[in-house]
Amino acid sequence: EAQNERESLLIALGFARDYFVKNLQTAEGKSIGLSYFKERGFTPAIIEKFDLGYALDGWDNLLNAAKSAGFKEEILLKAGLILQKEGDASRVYDRFRNRVIFAIHNIGGKPLGFGARILTKDKNQPKYINSPETPVYHKSEVLYGMYQAKKAIREKDNCYLVEGYTDVVSLHLSGIENVVASSGTSLTEGQIRLIKRFTDQVTVLYDGDAAGIKASLRGIDLLLEGGLNVKAVVFPNGEDPDSYSRKVGSQAFQDYLENNSSDFIGFKIGLYKEEFTKNPIRKAEVIREVVQSIGKIPDPIIRSVYAKEASGLLGIEEDIIHAELNKILLKSQ
Ligand code: UTP
Ligand code: MN
Ligand code: MN
Ligand code: MN
Ligand code: MN
Repeated sequence: EAQNERESLLIALGFARDYFVKNLQTAEGKSIGLSYFKERGFTPAIIEKFDLGYALDGWDNLLNAAKSAGFKEEILLKAGLILQKEGDASRVYDRFRNRVIFAIHNIGGKPLGFGARILTKDKNQPKYINSPETPVYHKSEVLYGMYQAKKAIREKDNCYLVEGYTDVVSLHLSGIENVVASSGTSLTEGQIRLIKRFTDQVTVLYDGDAAGIKASLRGIDLLLEGGLNVKAVVFPNGEDPDSYSRKVGSQAFQDYLENNSSDFIGFKIGLYKEEFTKNPIRKAEVIREVVQSIGKIPDPIIRSVYAKEASGLLGIEEDIIHAELNKILLKSQ
């Protein structure tokens, strides 16, 4: 029974994907959706590769098309495609309306849900509306773009981790295919397990703003705890991988990644460099911060390699780092 329901939901989600993709070729879809994607530099090939689509303006376009195709409202509800009207659950309407659509796939390429971007600058509405948790879409186990990235992640033995849907698409346009997005939410252990099926190396490319840096710090520790080798790149203030790659072009963007990726120790030192050289108390805090992260690493040999590196970079005796590490490790037992 549960297996049957999952199957029905996946079929309904596949129908919705096809429907949104086809909408992009209607008169409305062309003039609004397709032109939006074109403005962002998305090519027809990339639109097809990512199942990008368009949700028509109206309350029941998908609902009616799906019902005509034989789908029951109950299934469309459970799939997160329609919503019940507040105060009158017998009335239902489309969740995604008048937005461009990003299909969110499982690693086999089946759509599990959708992200839908607003087309205006209206600050009173959310920029993205996403599918809810459903019996088939568990957000904490999914990474946007993994279906399109998995082969390249294996080949490059590295996974770029970005925040947003458009960052993933833009990097593909720049010739970088080993990239997935955490979709604006905090990275989870399930998502890290998913990455580990393909590589042990992650490079974090979060947005160059306070929120992005905070999320990088948190993500880095979680990745280290998961036994992954972590690097990070900081973008100029206000830039994300999508905006920056379009600003400088794909060659300069690839060079930037090459020249600005540092391991987690370099990343942390870089963030505090200014204060760090002038103020001994701040420097002590940075050392403690770095040692905290080293303490997350499960493998004692790798831990010791980083302790040595930290000692060199921070100009502090290795013994002191090891003593501090021992304190942390005792506490965490
Ligand atoms: P950003 O605000 O950085 O958006 O959110 P973006 O990806 O750069 O999108 P553009 O370039 O403005 O179109 C990063 C990610 O956080 C999630 C989305 O997955 C988005 O891609 N998000 C953001 C939401 O789910 N809802 C929102 O309202 C905003
Ligand atoms: Mn492995
Ligand atoms: Mn952001
Ligand atoms: Mn962004
Ligand atoms: Mn962006």
